[in-house]
Amino acid sequence: MSDTLIYSGKSKDVFKINQGPHSGKFRLVFTDKATGYIDNGKVVFDPGRDVVVGEIPGKGAIACHFATHFFKLLQTHDIPSHYIETISENEMIVEPALPLSLAPEMATFPGSEPLANLEFTWRNSATGSFWRRYPFVKPCRNVNCVVEIWTKGAIDTLITTEALQETGALTAAEIRHCVTLVQAIARIVTEEFASRGLHVLDGKFELGRLAGGDGRIVIIDEISPDVLRVCDGYAPDARGDCTITGECTRTSCSEGRRSIKHRRQVAPTDFVNAFRR
Ligand SMILES: Nc1ncnc2c1ncn2[C@@H]1O[C@H](COP(=O)(O)OP(=O)(O)O)[C@@H](O)[C@H]1O
Ligand SMILES: [Mg+2]
Repeated sequence: MSDTLIYSGKSKDVFKINQGPHSGKFRLVFTDKATGYIDNGKVVFDPGRDVVVGEIPGKGAIACHFATHFFKLLQTHDIPSHYIETISENEMIVEPALPLSLAPEMATFPGSEPLANLEFTWRNSATGSFWRRYPFVKPCRNVNCVVEIWTKGAIDTLITTEALQETGALTAAEIRHCVTLVQAIARIVTEEFASRGLHVLDGKFELGRLAGGDGRIVIIDEISPDVLRVCDGYAPDARGDCTITGECTRTSCSEGRRSIKHRRQVAPTDFVNAFRR
């Protein structure tokens, strides 16, 4: 009996394993599919986008190798995850997990929708949508690994911990656990990059409840190069604010739309080389 495809996403295919030693577990296949947009008939790859526009040969193997490196690193720190083992250059066996989801309370109301999942962003330095939302903050100020929780859907929406608790999506204890876990993993990832002279500005993780056993919440999905914003070098002052932001960071605002860019930012295709075999 062959494995059953249960989900085909923007970057991975998920199979349920039906036989052999890993029967009942999931097999994640990292594909070469890449998101982006079409500009004047030309494909432009952009990991920040949500539409698959083509393939980048070798992308899946690179992502799988990168994720494997970090899941194994978490093991050395005794941080549990869904990771079991990597079985080929682009395939990983994982524990099945349930998303942090919620059914609609009253689906008979048109427009009601389930909470599909949550995403956790964490931020070392103030940039990206954090700075665009809070432009009173100095760009690249140390924001001490603040965690933001988003509902995952057609449009990701920031959700407060009070709303998560009130709606029953997570208990107060679960929220504390999720935030502490995300910060612990973020620090390990940040240190690993720092040891290679790279500064992680921010990143994003997905958590899930392990389907078997005690249902505890662990990191799932992947630790992906595409969701880490990374700069070459870091020159912090005593409170951890980057001291070269004046030279590195460029902000603008036109018609109410803000943008923030960093000259020192390193593209995923370049920083993954620091984690090659
Ligand atoms: N251990 C797991 N158990 C169940 N689902 C998982 C697990 N790890 C990752 N997933 C899910 O598998 C999918 C991975 O495919 P991906 O291409 O990243 O999807 P997406 O397009 O939604 O980002 C995601 O929906 C993710 O939530
Ligand atoms: Mg994904």
